[in-house]
Amino acid sequence: MLIDSYNRVVDYLRVSVTERCNFRCSYCMPEKPFSWVPKENLLSFEELFEFIKIAIDEGVKKIRITGGEPLLREDLDKFIKMIYDYSPSIDLAMTTNAYLLKGTAQRLKDAGLKRINVSIDTLKSDVAQQIAGKDVLKNVLDGVEEALRVGLKVKVNMVPMDGINSQEIVDVLEYSKERGMSVRFIEYMENQHASKEIKGLKSNELLEILSKHYSFSDDGFDGASPSHYYTMDDGYRFGIIEPYEDDFCTKCNRIRLTAEGYLIPCLYFDEAMSIADFVKRGEIKNAALVLKEVVKNKPEKNRWGGDDGESSKRAFYETGG
Ligand code: 5AD
Ligand code: SF4
Repeated sequence: MLIDSYNRVVDYLRVSVTERCNFRCSYCMPEKPFSWVPKENLLSFEELFEFIKIAIDEGVKKIRITGGEPLLREDLDKFIKMIYDYSPSIDLAMTTNAYLLKGTAQRLKDAGLKRINVSIDTLKSDVAQQIAGKDVLKNVLDGVEEALRVGLKVKVNMVPMDGINSQEIVDVLEYSKERGMSVRFIEYMENQHASKEIKGLKSNELLEILSKHYSFSDDGFDGASPSHYYTMDDGYRFGIIEPYEDDFCTKCNRIRLTAEGYLIPCLYFDEAMSIADFVKRGEIKNAALVLKEVVKNKPEKNRWGGDDGESSKRAFYETGG
């Protein structure tokens, strides 16, 4: 079992398969062109899988494929099947912007994928264009329908931003609820790659808006999920992710692997250690030692709520959030 120095069990690995993305969400990426990591620096699926096997053997029970946009990587279903065949009981999920899900959802499900998280920040085409930098809404919504049709469980993520999509909180909740999908509102996490103009809504502001429309009870946290949950009178549950709050990190159970092979102990901090050379050379024991070292070095908490006014230097498109 992987246990960090604050006694947290680490059993959740997020694997980014590419930092490339077909969107340019303003909360995630800079507007100006920037250069991607050269393709030859990416680990192959076989190399990523070598590390994943170690992680599963060490006690990882949940794996989430992230990006960038993971569906930009060819043959992703084959990679999912490799993981599924090694450990059919693993909780296998993916975070995607859904743009390419239509036409691929069935193959992903057949390969062993169980769940997806999709960002739906708006239900208006022009606002989607403004946030993602291109006209994406139709493909996204079609992708979600297809995922539901093939039997994938779908959760919705929304980042509410003042003056951009804050009017649509109830609409996105209703859209999700009608389709049996749980929605989570994520407080915008400041980072140095995002648009400087964004002002994210905080949990108390979201609750104030929602309480004008619904009555609900506070369920607190549930297991290791970073969401604070609320249950409405009709039983529908929504979540709010509050990284600026003090108790956000107390149950953190995750580490992240980038497409280049860096293991990241915390989303906020720049620190990372590479397993790339070890998996390329087949030095499995050394890769396992790095994994243990990274778990040991997991910081107690992020600094989003800190008073130094610093935002994170880490790019979300490297780690898929
Ligand atoms: N703040 C909050 N959430 C973010 N995401 C990406 N960047 C940010 C940010 N700066 C979330 C998106 C997406 C997931 C991949 O990460 O909502 O669903
Ligand atoms: Fe792409 Fe996701 Fe970042 Fe949007 S949030 S630009 S979809 S990686």
